[in-house]
Amino acid sequence: MGAESRCRQDTLALRRQLIGSSCKLFFSEDPLKIVRAKGQYMYDENGREYLDCIGNVAHVGHCHPDVVNAAHEHNQVLNTNSRFLHDNLVDYAKRISDTLPKKLCTFYFLNSGSEANDLALRLARQYTKHEDVIVFDHAYHGHLTSLIDISPYKFKNLDGQKEWVHVAPLPDTYRGMYREDHEDSATAYANDVKKIIDQAHEKGRKIAAFFAESLPSVGGQIIPPVGYFQKAAQHVRKAGGIFVADEIQVGFGRVGKCFWAFQLQGEDFVPDIVTMGKPIGNGHPMSCVATTKEIAEAFAATGVEYFNTFGGNPVSCAIGMKVLDVIEKEHLQAHATEVGNFLMELLNRQKSQHPIIGDIRGVGLFIGVDLIKDQEKRTPATAEAEYLIARLKNECILLSTDGPGRNVLKFKPPMCFNMKDAQFVVEKIDKILTGKTCQTDKGCF
Ligand SMILES: Cc1ncc(COP(=O)(O)O)c(C=O)c1O
Repeated sequence: MGAESRCRQDTLALRRQLIGSSCKLFFSEDPLKIVRAKGQYMYDENGREYLDCIGNVAHVGHCHPDVVNAAHEHNQVLNTNSRFLHDNLVDYAKRISDTLPKKLCTFYFLNSGSEANDLALRLARQYTKHEDVIVFDHAYHGHLTSLIDISPYKFKNLDGQKEWVHVAPLPDTYRGMYREDHEDSATAYANDVKKIIDQAHEKGRKIAAFFAESLPSVGGQIIPPVGYFQKAAQHVRKAGGIFVADEIQVGFGRVGKCFWAFQLQGEDFVPDIVTMGKPIGNGHPMSCVATTKEIAEAFAATGVEYFNTFGGNPVSCAIGMKVLDVIEKEHLQAHATEVGNFLMELLNRQKSQHPIIGDIRGVGLFIGVDLIKDQEKRTPATAEAEYLIARLKNECILLSTDGPGRNVLKFKPPMCFNMKDAQFVVEKIDKILTGKTCQTDKGCF
């Protein structure tokens, strides 16, 4: 039977039979079968159109014709590994380098965000000759064993924290220790990193790296205060470690005014390593690590080859270049700023009407809506957020939640998401929140 004609229930039954049950579905109680997508819209087997507010991998739009054609054309010419000379590899590395500060001038191409972060960890340890890693609370950096170890989001429910891992508080100025009324939250949060380093030193441990997502996403769409990275990096570097900016979710112009989210901290901040993934290939599995000459040379000094069968193949590089072309050609950074500001404005109007909305934070098309049970304690409205997401799905809007309290609605749509889409989604949120009391299993609002 062709996949096209198989009904949703049969697909679900086969999936349950054949696929590991730890591979989760969105809306697990009533999962969607999506058969095609275009731009910011996805379609189920009955042709029902859904607005995708979370698909940050389909960065320039689902199935963008320029990207699809680039893949098709190069697949007909050559696909091989990077042990042969090919212009696509060097041309693409040059294009990526043009988006970064000069110091980050050496590149490795790989296949997934996890691979990129795992290589970053190897580079950091080889360069510093130290072992330990500092990460944000609730961070997620990937699914490899090495990365589960540095992902509190995962390891808290598994083997726990390894002795070489140190957890720094999320620089969350809404719900964290130092809030919007703190006179200098950037310095206060950075001082906590310093304390963690001092405690590690007391135990005879040495810091190799601070892995920080430039805008912590799984952590709840957090916007670190400006100046925090500079100050934290200063402490880490003084301890002989390096700063790794994980841009796997938030890079490639999503934040609008800059190409990389770490640049929101100011021009005086340059990480030692930047890892990239998800949007880089608009759905094609690829990733990249950018670093300095010194770090790359220390890695090469072992004499051990770094070989990655698929990383940097000519087809992936052609796709990556086309993604960069489309971002430029369609002015997607300016678009992200314009639409993101409009969406924030509409959401802020909702905030004044619905007390469940505690905070709206974001930049470009990276926006979080923090739902709370009470204004004073800012208790996460977890069940209510889950309810809202389920109702929005019935209204053909795909949105999800994140954050330690799973109460932050996260907007990370394809970058072609437009003003009309913003209006549509906010109208639906308003309608649901305005509706009589919304009953949930665990409470009501
Ligand atoms: C911030 C961050 N880093 C790394 C990864 C891992 O990327 P991948 O799933 O491509 O291995 C993810 C994936 O969700 C992520 O969100």
